[in-house]
Amino acid sequence: MSPFSVKTFVIFKIDLQILIKEAYNNEHLEKEKLMLELKEVSMRYPAGNVALDNLSIEIDKGEFVFLIGASGAGKSTFIKLLTKELSPTSGQLWFEDKNITKYHKRRIPHYRRNLGIVFQDYRLLEKETVAENIAFAMRIVGKKNREIKRELPLILNLVGLNGKEKKFPDQLSGGEQQRVSIARAIANNPKLLICDEPTGNLDPATSWELMDLLSKLHNHGTTIIMATHSKDIVNTMQKRVIELEDGKLIRDEKQGGYA
Ligand SMILES: Nc1ncnc2c1ncn2[C@@H]1O[C@H](COP(=O)(O)OP(=O)(O)O)[C@@H](O)[C@H]1O
Ligand SMILES: [Mg+2]
Repeated sequence: MSPFSVKTFVIFKIDLQILIKEAYNNEHLEKEKLMLELKEVSMRYPAGNVALDNLSIEIDKGEFVFLIGASGAGKSTFIKLLTKELSPTSGQLWFEDKNITKYHKRRIPHYRRNLGIVFQDYRLLEKETVAENIAFAMRIVGKKNREIKRELPLILNLVGLNGKEKKFPDQLSGGEQQRVSIARAIANNPKLLICDEPTGNLDPATSWELMDLLSKLHNHGTTIIMATHSKDIVNTMQKRVIELEDGKLIRDEKQGGYA
């Protein structure tokens, strides 16, 4: 080999090393970005219906995702898989770098600390005040009274409920009750906020106020998955849209509308 070709070979080898290193870093970064991954997930209820049919979906940290589809399309089932109320009948579910498909019951409470969950019907403790409803969630993860006292006003302020802390749920409007439910869901800084038809019981104006709040939380860095029926909301927000029909994925658009 002439000196020239040795040099060429050395340069080539260094280039190759750099390329391999970059490829590795890229792959690593991709993985770091990933929050949730469904790999060929299907869900069949014992009664026999297939509620989700072979879904493969990736959701990155920081995304805002709408989950849409007609009633019975599988939205709530999808959400119950994420919250580990149900386990898929086939396929895999990953959260960050963990395969959570077959998590044992004992591990589920720990996993759920990553999540905040909001339902259409608020699900507040009716006999407790606003402050107690939120503090309850904080106590579950072992926060001390001192911390709760310090953090509660910040959370109330964030969701726009200052001054309402001593009220009981039945003294609040629907929109306010849903804010309490969001406050409770975000009280422990969840990585992922999951909302199943959160505006389903609210009038349009109140729904928009709630969407403003969710946008604000998203801008603060919370990843959000929201199941909804509302064409108006999905068309206006212009976020990623995942659409289900009879349990099948029929659309996944980065900045979709309802169509
Ligand atoms: N607990 C259950 N047992 C049997 N079938 C169910 C159960 N829950 C939902 N299903 C069925 O699974 C399908 C999807 O339902 P669901 O996930 O609630 O849809 P969506 O939230 O989009 O309205 C429907 O056909 C529904 O009837
Ligand atoms: Mg539903």
